[in-house]
Amino acid sequence: MKVLVTDPIADAGLDVLRDAGHEVETGYELEGDALLEAVSDANGLIVRSGTDVTEEVLDAADELAIVGRAGIGVDNIDIDAAKDHGVIVANAPEGNVRAAAEHTVAMTFATARSIPQAHIRLKNGEWAKSDYLGTELNGKTLGVVGLGRVGQEVAKKLDSLGMDIVAYDPYISEERAERIGAELVEFEPCLERADFLTVHTPLTPETEGLISEDELDLLGDGYLVNCARGGVVDEDALAAKVEDGTLAGAAIDVFAEEPLPADSPLLEHDDIIVTPHLGASTEAAQENVATSTANQVNAALVGEPVANA
Ligand code: NAD
Ligand code: MLT
Repeated sequence: MKVLVTDPIADAGLDVLRDAGHEVETGYELEGDALLEAVSDANGLIVRSGTDVTEEVLDAADELAIVGRAGIGVDNIDIDAAKDHGVIVANAPEGNVRAAAEHTVAMTFATARSIPQAHIRLKNGEWAKSDYLGTELNGKTLGVVGLGRVGQEVAKKLDSLGMDIVAYDPYISEERAERIGAELVEFEPCLERADFLTVHTPLTPETEGLISEDELDLLGDGYLVNCARGGVVDEDALAAKVEDGTLAGAAIDVFAEEPLPADSPLLEHDDIIVTPHLGASTEAAQENVATSTANQVNAALVGEPVANA
């Protein structure tokens, strides 16, 4: 069987496919007709966030049994079209949770202490010690929007650093939140009480634009961290609130359009810290998601149950 891999995954995952006897074709720059051609005889397709698996792609994929997403978010896959085509969609919901949570904590510290800004100035020969008076996390309130796997891990880590945790997630129970030391509250109080707001929802029609101008007003002079999905936060509103000095700062790993265009307003302000979707980019996380996804593709191709479909 042929498995097409259109975004880079760890070699360990490619080995799992090859060991099962599959022909593995990698095509990391495929777009347009070249992608349609490559997928036309593929039995399995593996992507990360770089490939949009649209209805057009699925139409072209006559032999396709499964799309494996080597990561968590499936917002780049047309799930309804996949269902219509009888194609299984499976993700890897566990393997990069710790990596994403650690990156979120790192971004929270980085914005609170202006680490990237100070780093650049020192590298440019400026000893700007007196320009940076940071904010301690200890004793501050962390608002978590979306208390799923990553949100819970972030809450636990920052709770242990002395933050008070409030969380908004309409789909989890108070008991579950309490177990990890978080107080479950409604949306507005979560934003109002937060000194730092961290977003951990999937991107869905319900969450698109969830944090826009009005919500940023409620956050006031706090900090915003988004290592979940671009599109959940309104980027123009965010840039404006940092630009006019309302928000203290922001740390953003994910963008509505990726790669982030060079003229994005998010690149204009020093108090918006950015990384290029690095949340899951650790060796361990990439091995985990690659092997887990490859195992699921292997299962689907021999008609066995697929765990994370
Ligand atoms: P998850 O499914 O375990 O948790 C998501 C949580 O969001 C759930 O508890 C759900 O109830 C909640 N939720 C859904 N709609 C909501 C709404 N309208 N308001 C508040 N809460 C809502 O997912 P996860 O594994 O924790 O991943 C969280 C996000 O992080 C996803 O968007 C995922 O794609 C992203 N992610 C990014 C990176 C990265 O590289 N930056 C890495 C891993 C995950
Ligand atoms: C995910 O949803 O798992 C992340 O965005 C990580 C990634 O695919 O790079």
